[in-house]
Amino acid sequence: MRPYGTLARSYYWTLRRGRLAVRSGIGPTRRIASAPPQATQGRQMSQTNAVDVIDVSKNFGTYQALKSISFTIRNNEFFTMLGPSGCGKTTLLRMLAGFETPDRGTILLKGQELVNIPPHKRRVNTVFQSYALFPHMTLEQNVAFGLENLGWERARIRARVGEMLERVHMSAFAKRKPAQLSGGQRQRVALARALAPEPEVLLLDEPLSALDLKLRQAMRDELRNLQRDTGITFVFVTHDQEEALDMSDRIAVLGSGEVQQLGTPTEIYEEPVNRFVADFVGETNFLEVDVLETASGNATIRTPFGQVITVPAPRDTLQGRGTLSIRPEKINLGDQAQDSAFSAQVVNKNYMGGYTHYLLAANGVEFRASRRNASREGDAIAVGSTVPVGFARASARVLAS
Ligand SMILES: Nc1ncnc2c1ncn2[C@@H]1O[C@H](COP(=O)(O)OP(=O)(O)O)[C@@H](O)[C@H]1O
Ligand SMILES: [Mg+2]
Repeated sequence: MRPYGTLARSYYWTLRRGRLAVRSGIGPTRRIASAPPQATQGRQMSQTNAVDVIDVSKNFGTYQALKSISFTIRNNEFFTMLGPSGCGKTTLLRMLAGFETPDRGTILLKGQELVNIPPHKRRVNTVFQSYALFPHMTLEQNVAFGLENLGWERARIRARVGEMLERVHMSAFAKRKPAQLSGGQRQRVALARALAPEPEVLLLDEPLSALDLKLRQAMRDELRNLQRDTGITFVFVTHDQEEALDMSDRIAVLGSGEVQQLGTPTEIYEEPVNRFVADFVGETNFLEVDVLETASGNATIRTPFGQVITVPAPRDTLQGRGTLSIRPEKINLGDQAQDSAFSAQVVNKNYMGGYTHYLLAANGVEFRASRRNASREGDAIAVGSTVPVGFARASARVLAS
């Protein structure tokens, strides 16, 4: 099912993500699928990135909010800036919108310096957590507002507004005012308004955080579909790692005013480059280990349980002490433990339905493991019992301590 297929109907031409949507004049839009990106690059599509952030710093008084940050956002990607509250996400987003200027460094939009593009020509729009709809206007008027300012013709505005409201499932409410809507509905209208002028880049600052859990999860899929179907570059800001993993093509993890890691959700989760990332994204155990040797992306370590093993390490410069990061779901217990190398005692457990979380101890070191309850009998390991414990070497990582 393609819930957003309708928007494309009014696009006479849309060339996005190397897909070509053509209006046939009679029938519905046909998408001519998937010329590979490299085939279109250098011809119809610009090779420039959507956004280049180059060496950008920002201070507030003596506080260094951003410390010489550089990264690139590609055309047509769902890019997420993930980090704890106060790490500078909104500051960075406001700079991309041109509301704030860096103290040092440059921001390029489609290869052009942002400061040199007049505000009305910057094809960037923002969706705020607070929706920021005009309370005295109907939904229609809210969506039309930006288009009127851009000087669109009336008929074109009417068509576009209708289409955008349909796309976010709000057509039936067109004549209502924002106060007559739920939070989720307002957020949909805010999205329709921001997408209506077809920005090249849509900035979204924690747009789901005011919604309740169920709605938030539904909206994740909607946002992802909207991004895919429009091909507009989304720059999404959140402190919620699950949202980031679920929706993004790539994630920049921000912390202490710096980009701690940039990569796909799988890279960020499976191959964290430091303790901050391993800790902030997902759950993990940190175990202090002795590093005996490092070579070509691996480290040979001695664990607190006495094993000497070789596991992946992002840096070859580790020496002496290091930290082994191993996620609870990668630790196998009991009959699921392959590679079983030691035994541990079950200190505590929490039955969560689908999973049971265990707190274990061996050699005086505590760690957590979670085990999927693949059957009703899955939760059979008792507190106080001693169980075999194992993990695949490749799913652990040695990080600087
Ligand atoms: N206008 C400002 N004046 C002073 N400090 C600010 C201002 N804007 C942001 N800050 C500070 O900069 C840091 C980053 O803020 P912000 O970008 O809003 O973080 P985030 O969006 O990641 O929560 C915070 O410590 C915040 O208090
Ligand atoms: Mg913020």
